[in-house]
Amino acid sequence: MEITNVSEYEAIAKEKLPKMVFDYYASGAEDQWTLNQNRQAFSRILFRPRILIDVSKIDMTTTVLGFKISMPIMIAPTAMQKMAHPEGEYATARAASAAGTIMTLSSWATSSVEEVASTGPGIRFFQLYVYKDRHVVAQLVRRAERAGFKAIALTVDTPRLGRREADIKNRFVLPPFLSLKNFEGLDMGKMDQANDSGLASYVAGQIDRSLSWKDVKWLQTITDLPIFVKGVITAEDARLAIQAGAAGIIVSNHGARQLDYVPATIMALEEVVKAAQGRVPVFLDGGVRRGTDVFKALALGASGIFIGRPVVFSLAAEGEAGVRKVLQMLREEFELTMALSGCRSLKEITRDHIVAEWDRPRLPPRL
Ligand code: FNR
Repeated sequence: MEITNVSEYEAIAKEKLPKMVFDYYASGAEDQWTLNQNRQAFSRILFRPRILIDVSKIDMTTTVLGFKISMPIMIAPTAMQKMAHPEGEYATARAASAAGTIMTLSSWATSSVEEVASTGPGIRFFQLYVYKDRHVVAQLVRRAERAGFKAIALTVDTPRLGRREADIKNRFVLPPFLSLKNFEGLDMGKMDQANDSGLASYVAGQIDRSLSWKDVKWLQTITDLPIFVKGVITAEDARLAIQAGAAGIIVSNHGARQLDYVPATIMALEEVVKAAQGRVPVFLDGGVRRGTDVFKALALGASGIFIGRPVVFSLAAEGEAGVRKVLQMLREEFELTMALSGCRSLKEITRDHIVAEWDRPRLPPRL
């Protein structure tokens, strides 16, 4: 049957993938309250469309760090994509560049920065996890730079891995025929079986829990690449990120995989946008599955959004063609939303094009 929206890929992926792999991709932390909220919160925002505006031409292009992209829809870093499909990150990279948008490669990719670069031209960002061994980090950042990556997305919400119970039950581990390619030969490319989640043990062993704002400054001493801080959900941290030299902020709760009972990212977005005061661009990821979601995020002040799970699910279903289709469907839905709202370019999308549940004054009706 024809696939007509992004969410449909999840069920196909569930059928195709081993349970351990599907659960790893799909799960959130603990009660998965935030996981559900990331989706549901979009339904607390409704449109205030404008009519009788000539929408015969719609321009969805935008720039990120000066790079022109075809639409404000980009690819978030998701780890270990070769578990989904043998082409893994290669397929994602090709699909992103065919769509004229940005792919973010995970530190924990099953393809190296050099391998992904070799797939051809494309604007790519590198997501960084900071290891205890800073030499490894410095080397990796340099390799990403040399491979032509244009920015670092520094993930700041993972001093320890969130408690993902499916991974604990399944004793999740990277299958032995795969490795974390960016760390191959460094004795950090494999994941050992553990009594709980193999990934949680790996993180406990390798990732630097002491990471702090001074390290954001340290990172700037080892690279000239702009740094996006990924995982900000409060105004306080938005201000600190800017003070620490961030070139951009990604409002993210890690796809609800870290701290459960944080708000949906779409609920946290506006306070971060206000705190940033236009000094740096603010992006969002988490639960974006429809063109209408993209529009709502932009109306609340985001410069663009990133998608995570739709990429791994569509990869599992149809490889590169699946990821292309996901990007194409979101693009078409977003274009239609703009047309039906009376917006011809991204700068015409305003806060007045939406009304959020929390906007309505809850006064009793006057008698
Ligand atoms: C992630 N995410 C993630 N983030 C990161 O900084 N480094 C990583 O390696 C990963 N890996 C990863 C794997 C999987 C399977 C998922 C689902 C997520 C988080 C990701 O970048 C992004 O924040 C969320 O996926 C966005 O939410 P949606 O679009 O999945 O709802």
